[in-house]
Amino acid sequence: MASMFIVFDGVDGAGKSTQLQLAAQWFHDSGRDVLTCADPGSTELGQRIRQLLLGQHDIPVSMRSEMLLFMTARAQLVDELVRPALAANKVVLCDRYTFSTVVYQGHAGGMDPAEIWTVNQVATGGLVPDLTLLFDMPVPVALQRIGARRLDRMESRGEDFLERVRQGFLLESQRWPKGVEIVPAGEPVDAVFARVKVHLAAVADRHREADG
Ligand code: TYD
Repeated sequence: MASMFIVFDGVDGAGKSTQLQLAAQWFHDSGRDVLTCADPGSTELGQRIRQLLLGQHDIPVSMRSEMLLFMTARAQLVDELVRPALAANKVVLCDRYTFSTVVYQGHAGGMDPAEIWTVNQVATGGLVPDLTLLFDMPVPVALQRIGARRLDRMESRGEDFLERVRQGFLLESQRWPKGVEIVPAGEPVDAVFARVKVHLAAVADRHREADG
């Protein structure tokens, strides 16, 4: 069976990680080998970089360094985990990927999105997901969902920043008519997963056809 690389991305608090777990179970139940991972994270280097990027500290980090650190974590994730899993015909489900950098450091952070796409090409060796699901909901609702938990460095940049994040995701999704789907995430978990399943089934079918 053909490998698949599927990314779950979107605004903080939209429930993408829950949907990723449900998708992992769904693929597992259909007999597939699944690897789940998170960007940044999942490798030892990625975890260290994640602490630098998201932990609360007072080490100065410029936006350009921040972008490159996210890219470094991603390069390691791709080389150490994602490519080997795809080579072993697994389904790889990744919590965030390139869109996050383009949107958080680009559209919201002020860097040029085109420049970020270029750096990403080098960082990932051109590995593009078969499907990216972008979970969308109004920022005030998402913030309410995050609720009282301690905010990470990105989330504490405030509502205006997160609004630019949301608009960035919506805008970027239009540049990629194929392989990118916006998923409205405001409904209950099961209803959202029903939508997710339609996209997962479609990409799985496409791969089966390509296979046989
Ligand atoms: P996430 O993994 O969703 O954290 P959690 O599961 O703890 O909510 O996201 C980490 C944060 O990092 C999130 O606010 C988005 C941000 N981020 C970027 O700013 N740039 C990036 O390239 C990536 C991958 C994430």
